[in-house]
Amino acid sequence: MDIEFVSSGPLVGDAAAAIAAPIYEGQVLGAAAEAIDGATSGAISRALVAGRFTGAKGQTLDLPAPHGVEAARVVLLGAGPKDGFDGAAAEALGASAFQAVKQSGATALELKLADLSIEHAARAAFGVRLAAYRFDRYLTKEKPEKKPSVKETRVACADPEAAVTAFAPLSALADAIVFTRDLVSEPANVLYPEEFAHRVKMLEPLGLEVEILGEAEMTELGMGALLGVGQGSARQSQLALMIWKGAADPNTAPVAFIGKGVCFDSGGISIKPADGMEDMKWDMGGAGAVAGLMHALAGRKAKVNAVGILGLVENMPDGDAIRPGDILTSMSGQTIEVINTDAEGRLVLADAIWYCNTRFKPKAMVDLATLTGAMIIALGHDYAGLFSNNDDLADGLLAASKAEGEPLWRMPLHAGYEKQIDSMAADVKNTGGRPGGSITAALFIQRFVESGVPWAHLDIAPVAWKKPSTLPTSPDGATGYGVRLLNRLVANVYEDKPA
Ligand code: BES
Ligand code: MN
Ligand code: ZN
Repeated sequence: MDIEFVSSGPLVGDAAAAIAAPIYEGQVLGAAAEAIDGATSGAISRALVAGRFTGAKGQTLDLPAPHGVEAARVVLLGAGPKDGFDGAAAEALGASAFQAVKQSGATALELKLADLSIEHAARAAFGVRLAAYRFDRYLTKEKPEKKPSVKETRVACADPEAAVTAFAPLSALADAIVFTRDLVSEPANVLYPEEFAHRVKMLEPLGLEVEILGEAEMTELGMGALLGVGQGSARQSQLALMIWKGAADPNTAPVAFIGKGVCFDSGGISIKPADGMEDMKWDMGGAGAVAGLMHALAGRKAKVNAVGILGLVENMPDGDAIRPGDILTSMSGQTIEVINTDAEGRLVLADAIWYCNTRFKPKAMVDLATLTGAMIIALGHDYAGLFSNNDDLADGLLAASKAEGEPLWRMPLHAGYEKQIDSMAADVKNTGGRPGGSITAALFIQRFVESGVPWAHLDIAPVAWKKPSTLPTSPDGATGYGVRLLNRLVANVYEDKPA
């Protein structure tokens, strides 16, 4: 999607374009809607009545080729109450404009946003970019009328030059979210651990240092838990390290992000039922989000030292696979009894987190993982779950979640549940039964976090993939959840502040 900012002069005709203009709650016409209403002898006013259009947030009303303006169509955009109009409303406005016209036949979308602040105009453009995401790499026979017709968006606003400047960091963020969505959407025969690591390595031109550890190095380090998961797969396991040094002092302790990257989760010997197993191609959503976050931080040259660690494996059943009852020795030295080979994400994180502790001595750690089905049972598909040993970190994450519209709900991490994962045969076992399944998974991970280090675990199983989607900014499929949230956390809490 090409995005251009233009000045909001008088109506210029473009017979191939869809012109979109905001209308506020209570049928309050914005400046552009007024102008179009004048040029069309009141077509908008009549349409509002005929179309039950109040101006409520998210409403759209489509007027094909109205007499008096040269346009393929005019689209009215419900903007909600004029008083409370904010960045989130601007983003949703841009996104729903695109959704309304994407397949209309119009080749361009012209957003008439002279009423909006420059910041909000940029935010609307960001909404268009996110809404226009599509994973169509493998659709070789799609009918032309199914493809989006809109190829470019022009945002008409008060000061196009200032809008370009305001849009730059948002554009970098959108690139990062698209990067994550692509990773999450790729099938597992294409995106296996080495290919994932390769795609991350390709981000080095952004200024990231990327290191890839293979099985030989991980064996040397004693990562028996992570390697155990990959043992039944024909693919090589990988640990990808993404290092960003943007702080004034390159030696200050980084903030660290660790992602579960199970490129396919068959369940292993504790194999999953066939129904829905294809969903497990997106069991690398945590690693995808961390990779996108690092892309975003580098893309906008964030003044922070940060590391991203991706545990990349494939969980498959074969003659070499780990079995229920096997005991693995993790890099931390703790032994783990494998009760269920389908509880593999926590095994990957155990070693990735321990490695992170020892090598980077981070000031805080946040892991992201599509960890448990139980999280979906608890929260449905709107919220991700948050578990943390530190209230400040948890509050920072909740604030970032609110600011970015990526819902997050804090869950208990209560020691009372620990006994569910005590094992007779080893230091810990990898499942704690059905009750509180997401909590015992989080407690398992916590056993691999060095005490005193602020840590949070985000179980994003509910939100990494959505069908049907719940937001105009996020089409069906991969959401890219977490990239915005963590980017905001870094900006709010960890970045050097101007003196
Ligand atoms: N990747 C799954 C969790 C998952 C399920 C993510 C559905 C997204 C959608 C995870 O590895 C898993 O299989 N967890 C098991 C744990 C159980 C065996 C203790 C689960 O949730 O059933
Ligand atoms: Mn599993
Ligand atoms: Zn899994």
